[in-house]
Amino acid sequence: MQKSLEMIKEFVQTVRGFRGWHDPAQVETLIMDMGINGEKPHELPGELVAYMGGVRSWVMPNQTAPYLSWLDSQGPFSSYLEIGTRYGGTFMLTCEALRSRNLMLEAVGCDVICRPVELGLYMDDNGFPYHHGSSSSEDFGRIVSGRRWGVCLVDGSHRYEDVMRDYRMVEPHCDVIVLHDISSDACPGVVRAWGELKGEGHGRFHEFTSQYFSDRSYMGIGVIDKRGFAVGEKSSRVLV
Ligand SMILES: C[S@@+](CC[C@H](N)C(=O)[O-])C[C@H]1O[C@@H](n2cnc3c(N)ncnc32)[C@H](O)[C@@H]1O
Repeated sequence: MQKSLEMIKEFVQTVRGFRGWHDPAQVETLIMDMGINGEKPHELPGELVAYMGGVRSWVMPNQTAPYLSWLDSQGPFSSYLEIGTRYGGTFMLTCEALRSRNLMLEAVGCDVICRPVELGLYMDDNGFPYHHGSSSSEDFGRIVSGRRWGVCLVDGSHRYEDVMRDYRMVEPHCDVIVLHDISSDACPGVVRAWGELKGEGHGRFHEFTSQYFSDRSYMGIGVIDKRGFAVGEKSSRVLV
């Protein structure tokens, strides 16, 4: 517990002193320094192995850095929802990026796993609730529909049906919806869902899909920005 507390204190201190959210190169270094998840090490290039640990964001730094800089350029946002928080690294980093433009940020995380200690310390300190349970539960549906959300990351179950269900649930209540793993060889369900949503074209689409390998594709971030779009209005352009 003491070690977790020290780690979160150091994380918060470092990230709150960070002034480079506008610059993907600086954000990439920050993500690596704060620590990435090593659960599927074969998806990461050798040079990133040294950065496994810390807050354990389950991301590719070269995708998440330009995405967080894009969010920074689009803010301020007043709220953030993350479906599938795992160890909480991405939740904490995203909250801090958004918080740098809005100190009143409200955020909720959801996962079927018990709340990890580090994420719990961070959430309690900021008054951010954790929904322990499935995103498909009625309780969580009420949380989603209970307000308007600025940004929502859909990164829970990666089965096609579940991704579409999560997306359809948040869509009416959220300005910017983000899908993780849109270009991952390991997540065909998300790739299919993203392709179909792009076909529907309801919003402005952005993709952050840089890869470390030339012969494999992992993760990938897709953003659907619905701000300023009337229900049913279409845009087929994908902006990078
Ligand atoms: C890839 S991990 C999320 C990684 C995290 N967003 C990050 O970037 O560090 C997917 C998470 O979704 C959770 N999950 C799976 N099905 C879920 C569901 N139906 N509702 C909520 N969470 C779910 C898993 O327990 C897992 O922790």
